[in-house]
Amino acid sequence: MTHLPPLRPGFLWGASTSAYQVEGGWDADGKGPSVQDARTGLPEGTTDFRVASDHYHRYREDVALLAELGLKAYRFSIAWTRVVPDGDGPENPDGIAFYHRLIDELLAHGIEPIVTMYHFDLPQALQEKGGWSSRATVDAFARYAGILFREYGSKVRYWLTINEQNMMILHGSAMGVAGEDTIEAKRDLYQQNHHMLLAQARAMALCHETLPHAKIGPAPNIVSIYPASSAPEDVLAADDFSAIRNWLYLDVAVHGRYNPTAWAYLTKRGIQPVFAEGDQSVLASGRPDFIALNYYATHTVAAPSGGSEDVNDMGDELFTVGEAGVYRGVPNPHLKATDFGAEIDPAGFRITLREVYGRYRLPLLITENGLGAYDVLEADGTVHDGYRIDYLAEHIRHLQLAAGDGVDVLGYCPWSAIDLVSTHQGASKRYGFVYVDRDEFDLKELARVRKDSFFWYRDVIARNGVRVP
Ligand code: BG6
Repeated sequence: MTHLPPLRPGFLWGASTSAYQVEGGWDADGKGPSVQDARTGLPEGTTDFRVASDHYHRYREDVALLAELGLKAYRFSIAWTRVVPDGDGPENPDGIAFYHRLIDELLAHGIEPIVTMYHFDLPQALQEKGGWSSRATVDAFARYAGILFREYGSKVRYWLTINEQNMMILHGSAMGVAGEDTIEAKRDLYQQNHHMLLAQARAMALCHETLPHAKIGPAPNIVSIYPASSAPEDVLAADDFSAIRNWLYLDVAVHGRYNPTAWAYLTKRGIQPVFAEGDQSVLASGRPDFIALNYYATHTVAAPSGGSEDVNDMGDELFTVGEAGVYRGVPNPHLKATDFGAEIDPAGFRITLREVYGRYRLPLLITENGLGAYDVLEADGTVHDGYRIDYLAEHIRHLQLAAGDGVDVLGYCPWSAIDLVSTHQGASKRYGFVYVDRDEFDLKELARVRKDSFFWYRDVIARNGVRVP
């Protein structure tokens, strides 16, 4: 057996979900609508988020399954619209009570709650007042953060501010959170981004002020960017894309200042955000205790040619990378892809972890990684998802190798704990360890079924890692 380095004691073996994708109960007990509830233009044939996996009503059964899986941690998000239905108005005691019940249930089973404060589901009422384009949303988020810390601060030790802020900015239309591609729209987008960075800094500062034992961090989607070749022009394009996609977000979160390459990219195009007086000190006041990151696969880019061919159509908007005159996305010939066209790069996971840890020297918490597939529920009630086991085993192996390279990894929470509705590809694209029996439009009984990966992951957790032949 090949030796794999040990993980840190108390390693947080977990799994992830997000509120709007798993809960359902979209208007239950005073919940207000979020931008996800108001979303139009979902791809034809895919469901909306009104029922999802009905976790809102079945959380006890779900937590019992997570406990049986052996999870040490569960990463989920709180729906802002349950706590403050219109985003900045009165609090909703019933919504607040739901998360008390969920957190208590987790703690009773010895599962550490890891809470995302905001996962793509801005209150629709705030959106109608300008959303993140308005500075008032920064205040609304800071107030919401204070409510969460007041309510759950004695029970929750790990907090994540904003899920995949970078994907909301770069691929907002695929997630139902942003639109158009004009210069004006881009300028507004980076102003929104600036406001989210301010909101995040305020939440981190408030957390440290009020909850000295808690830990908080950002949760972007971070992946290493490969140059298509050793040509210096390709290397430069990869460096530019990495600054625009990764470091723009993490440099501000960690150091309180913009990355110089990303800032130059913004200013050259005239799309840099406007700083109000005091913004710089707000950004500098928020410091994370760790970096949470979602990893799916690396990207590969080449020097731009300057034309529309710089934007490479990878079949799905989220995998399509490229910007005319900046970098050109290309497929990586060394990687295989999933049924949904996502490249698979477990070694890239190790490379990414080393790169991020080397840059920032903060512990890393993996908050997403996983394989979306069309799983099949057999007549005998089994689900044979060996492809998911292969995917996760290779990623965990490389995570352990990264730990052996000196990277401090706090935990691993693959996506997703149970099946839920994909951000833009419906309920048929499944990621969970637990199958939820529903189709896009036929809800059936929403029964929970343990997949093969459930039993396999339980074994991985019990052994504190994967076995290598
Ligand atoms: C991440 C998100 O982008 O990837 C999740 O944080 C999302 O919300 C996950 O569901 C998988 O993406 P998709 O599009 O396959 O659901």
